[in-house]
Amino acid sequence: MSRKTFAVAVAPLLLLLFLLPSPGLAQESANCLYCHNAMKGTIKVQGGAMVNLNVDAEKFKASVHAMLPCTECHLKFSDDTHASAGSAVPSDILSLSSKISIKYSSDPVAGAACTKCHEEEYQKVLSSVHGKNVIEKKQTDGALCVDCHGSPHYITKAKGGKSPVSRKYQAETCGKCHGNQELVEKYKLEENVMDSFSESFHGRKLLLGHTRAPVCASCHNAHDIRSKSDPLSPVFGKNKLETCGKCHKGANEKFIPAITHKRPGPIPHYGEKLLILLTMGVFAFIVIHVLLEAFADIRDAVFRKKEGK
Ligand code: HEC
Ligand code: HEC
Ligand code: HEC
Ligand code: HEC
Ligand code: HEC
Ligand code: HEC
Ligand code: HEC
Repeated sequence: MSRKTFAVAVAPLLLLLFLLPSPGLAQESANCLYCHNAMKGTIKVQGGAMVNLNVDAEKFKASVHAMLPCTECHLKFSDDTHASAGSAVPSDILSLSSKISIKYSSDPVAGAACTKCHEEEYQKVLSSVHGKNVIEKKQTDGALCVDCHGSPHYITKAKGGKSPVSRKYQAETCGKCHGNQELVEKYKLEENVMDSFSESFHGRKLLLGHTRAPVCASCHNAHDIRSKSDPLSPVFGKNKLETCGKCHKGANEKFIPAITHKRPGPIPHYGEKLLILLTMGVFAFIVIHVLLEAFADIRDAVFRKKEGK
């Protein structure tokens, strides 16, 4: 092969490589992103829901799933854009997808596909109070994967600083629902859990950056979350011996009731306010006293000088 023919043969390949999106992505994802990275705005899909069609290629590349072809989750789609590959979806995933379809408006199969690789977490969520809310009560209020981990395309390491389930943002994430008065009333949920946590010894330590202070999941689990009256809940009765004992060695039955989310009753509340008022009062008294004394000293000094003259 002459140099020229070689160049002619290779040039299109090089051009193709150049057109291919940057490394780190599966070829298939690149094909899908060719359209979806460029598309902006929302459309109404078959079910009637409004769907945002944009998938940001840069943010996808920074996610834990960057190496996955889009079709590892979007099993209904073949690698050739939207050509249907419906029959290829395994039946267990298809059946799961129909159970959660009220939560996933655009592609419930993708919402069920997580179980291929994260079966353990998925099973726990399904048997949790959150999963049952969706599957048994057929409500859309309970939390599934993306309610806690954020957009399915931009999921980052759970322990990482930016993840919505990281120590820094976790309380805020649970608080989207547990701090929402409408939901609290609808399900008669424990009131005030968010305030009581942030005002607690634990919440304050967390804010100060204490690396061992608990967040919500330290006491309630991340996926297997249950009502406190469920014997499998980590905050059910004596299970707290173990739950608190993870961090408080030798936690006994006298110690474990120390934390609930109940308001601490009026006496400690006003007691604390009174103490603050008292401290400020004493401090103000001292400051005024010192100022007056200084004023008296200056006045005396000035008058004595005058008398001396
Ligand atoms: C040629 C451009 C193009 C390519 C390539 C493309 N899409 Fe789309 N996609 C669209 C358009 C346009 C819509 C909205 C209209 C529609 O539903 O067909 C859409 C809608 C979607 C939706 C919303 C739900 C639905 O059923 O409509 C999903 C999910 C989706 N695409 C995934 C993918 C995946 C995964 C790939 C790669 C396998 C891909 N797309 C490749 C143009 C494209
Ligand atoms: C980790 C699994 C996963 C991967 C990988 C993934 N998706 Fe998705 N995607 C989902 C889920 C789950 C939904 C459904 C969200 C919903 O219905 O609320 C979704 C929804 C969509 C939608 C509809 C818009 C929306 O927000 O509902 C488009 C378009 C889409 N994906 C395109 C892509 C493209 C393009 C890729 C590859 C670059 C990709 N997806 C990779 C899980 C994934
Ligand atoms: C109620 C909120 C919530 C829901 C719903 C949720 N997660 Fe999580 N997830 C968390 C928290 C919090 C962590 C971090 C746990 C830790 O730091 O130990 C986590 C961690 C993870 C991890 C890292 C490994 C591990 O187990 O710690 C994976 C994988 C994961 N989740 C997958 C999923 C999948 C898949 C779903 C849906 C079936 C899901 N999660 C639903 C809150 C949630
Ligand atoms: C084809 C397999 C596959 C599918 C499908 C998949 N994941 Fe993952 N996921 C992975 C792999 C592999 C990693 C680990 C990446 C790493 O360690 O860098 C991961 C990481 C994660 C993490 C971070 C775990 C940690 O250690 O902090 C979460 C959260 C997560 N996935 C949630 C989901 C959710 C939600 C879905 C469905 C929308 C999903 N995954 C679908 C393979 C998959
Ligand atoms: C998308 C909204 C949502 C998110 C996010 C969410 N929850 Fe929930 N949670 C609910 C709903 C709704 C219920 C009540 C379900 C029912 O009774 O059917 C519930 C119930 C609970 C219960 C049991 C309460 C009871 O009275 O039985 C606990 C404990 C709980 N959630 C803890 C958490 C923690 C911890 C997090 C964060 C890691 C979290 N939740 C994130 C919506 C949410
Ligand atoms: C130090 C452990 C601890 C932490 C941290 C914690 N909780 Fe709790 N939580 C408990 C205990 C213990 C109970 C049961 C209280 C009782 O018996 O009255 C409870 C009860 C609840 C309930 C009511 C459960 C039911 O069945 O009625 C909800 C909801 C809840 N917590 C949410 C949260 C959220 C959200 C966070 C984070 C902002 C959080 N908790 C942080 C220990 C904790
Ligand atoms: C993830 C670890 C963790 C868990 C789980 C945990 N705590 Fe704590 N707790 C801490 C840390 C850290 C401090 C602050 C200790 C310090 O600064 O001396 C603290 C402080 C306290 C304090 C005030 C100071 C003290 O030591 O007397 C009480 C009371 C307390 N925790 C009760 C509980 C109870 C009850 C539970 C179980 C429902 C529990 N904790 C679960 C980490 C934890």
